[in-house]
Amino acid sequence: MSRLISPSILSADFNNLGKDILMLNQSEADWIHFDVMDGVFVPNISFGLPVIQHVKKIATKPLDVHLMIVNPDPFIKPFRDSGADMLTVHYEVCNHLHRTVSAIRQEGMKAGVCLNPATPVHVLEDIINELDLVLLMSVNPGFGGQKFIQNTYQKVIRLRRLIEEKQATALIEIDGGVNLETGKLLFEAGADVLVAGSFIFGTENPMMTIHQLKNV
Ligand code: DX5
Ligand code: ZN
Repeated sequence: MSRLISPSILSADFNNLGKDILMLNQSEADWIHFDVMDGVFVPNISFGLPVIQHVKKIATKPLDVHLMIVNPDPFIKPFRDSGADMLTVHYEVCNHLHRTVSAIRQEGMKAGVCLNPATPVHVLEDIINELDLVLLMSVNPGFGGQKFIQNTYQKVIRLRRLIEEKQATALIEIDGGVNLETGKLLFEAGADVLVAGSFIFGTENPMMTIHQLKNV
């Protein structure tokens, strides 16, 4: 298993976003996570293509884009053109998930699928071999700073078993309520990548927090 950290800029200081991105460049963060929300799939609106375009100009880490939007297909190429390196769509909104995942890969991005807390991992058994990433929500999507859902540990174990059974290569990424305590248990359960927003940007020294999380 890898032990990667993908800080979510949802909790960054948008009055000084460039400063936070330069900090992430210097930090041990492996990726930068973007929580794109449309106010329809989730009860919140965050940011979109212009933020990705501008961050891409100064970021030195891969851009890990999480689309919490109801209609991702028309935005696959725009997000590629804006600089996304990985694009994750929600299983719950894709009527033709195989087609969507193929389209993401055809645009040259890593393809991820995200599951909400109540969506079981077995829904991925016939597409897991086409995925670079599975993102498990450990909170109900829409807001940073929420309480971690404990059942996530069991989901990680089940997903790791499915990946091994199918000899798949998808990474397991977890998003929501990640801190040192949940992060340690998540890595132990088999997660590869941890997304953290408020835990990182809510501390005095985000670089140190990222270092601690990576070495938890
Ligand atoms: C929820 C968002 C959050 C964010 C991380 O829709 O996806 O999970 O990335 O939030 P924290 O780390 O603050 O729980
Ligand atoms: Zn996310």
